[in-house]
Amino acid sequence: MHPAPVVSVDLDEFWNDPYPQLKEMRNENPICFVPELGAVLVTKRDDIQTCEKNVAVFSSDQPGGLMNVLMGQNMMRRDGDDHRKERFVYYPAVSPNAVKKVWATQFESIVDSAIEVLATQHGGDLVRTFATIVSGEALKVLTGLTNASYHQIDGWSQAMIDGIANYEGDSNVETRCHEAVAAIDAAIDERLPAVLASPDHSLLSIMVSSGMPMDTVRANIKLTISGGQNEPRDAIGGMIWALLTHPDQLELVERGIVGWMQVFDEYCRLVAPIGMSPRRISTDFEYNSVQLRADDRVFLMFSSANRDEDYFDRSAEFDVQRDVSPNLTFGAGPHFCAGAAASRSLIGDIAVPKLFARFPNLTIDESEPDVVFGGWAFRGPLTLPARW
Ligand code: HEM
Repeated sequence: MHPAPVVSVDLDEFWNDPYPQLKEMRNENPICFVPELGAVLVTKRDDIQTCEKNVAVFSSDQPGGLMNVLMGQNMMRRDGDDHRKERFVYYPAVSPNAVKKVWATQFESIVDSAIEVLATQHGGDLVRTFATIVSGEALKVLTGLTNASYHQIDGWSQAMIDGIANYEGDSNVETRCHEAVAAIDAAIDERLPAVLASPDHSLLSIMVSSGMPMDTVRANIKLTISGGQNEPRDAIGGMIWALLTHPDQLELVERGIVGWMQVFDEYCRLVAPIGMSPRRISTDFEYNSVQLRADDRVFLMFSSANRDEDYFDRSAEFDVQRDVSPNLTFGAGPHFCAGAAASRSLIGDIAVPKLFARFPNLTIDESEPDVVFGGWAFRGPLTLPARW
């Protein structure tokens, strides 16, 4: 029984491209302590699945953690019955059934409007002019914060993400996070009378109508904005990039040999929009001969699970014909992404297929610098210059 082996990473390199270092970890030290992140990383797919299900030890409850302090305690930071109770209220608003009956038609109008604006232009950055707008507009209707702009949603999301990763205590980052949280509270207050007077299908309305305490409603709306904006944005941009840079695979989709949802799943396997989910060790525990100590911080590395060679041959290649089913893109346990059905519908069924149908001559703009990806906790293309 040993403490986790120590593996150092260069944080800039890890942000630019975490995959070479994750591969080395999977091969040599699949459970290791990374001092620069102050966390034990679990990198093999099966270990992640086993650990995530063991909620008694791999706890989501992180008292004093930055997310709780800055955004209030939400369902992602609770275990057991406390978690189940909140999820039970939240989930019906975004379940596959709700997506089919309520949200899919709204997603279609959001995407159609964004595409009509693009049709008046001939090129631009699709992350800014399409992915960010579609993701933000969808989140407005899902949360019920229709009084916000997509631009505000995107800014609030980033400010909260930066705030909860602000381990250095940068006061500017903290201030921006406080401002975003206050602005969301103000937007909730402004919408409350309307959703109380005429309840609708939104998360705000459903949580308020259930009698959930208002602090908890607010915390879960903030969770939804912090976690529900950049992933769909990054997955839309990344999926378009993957198809444009692999014309042979685009052809398979256009000929109907492979479905759009398979492409969505394969892109998210290759570049997981959420690379990790954190846990706290609740009590001293030995796993695979590694000694974990109470209060150790553990990162379950979904990005690494999705490239585990035990499950995926040539795992760094984009191959829309592979079996993607072992992927952990949306998690592997009780905290499995509540927004998975909404994201799959928005991106895989609607946004990307409609864009390719409307602009059959869509290409990467070769006159612009190469597309650059960034991030290890969240990852996607930073820009996507294209022509149509
Ligand atoms: C491509 C888009 C998305 C990806 C890849 C993604 C991925 C994830 C992942 C990996 C987790 C953590 C799972 C775990 O720890 O086991 C998560 C949790 C969560 N996601 Fe998503 N997500 C996406 C979009 C969304 C959207 C649009 C929403 C809201 C409408 C959303 C709501 C949530 C919630 C509420 C949780 C916490 C669930 C719980 O604690 O029970 N996600 N997501």
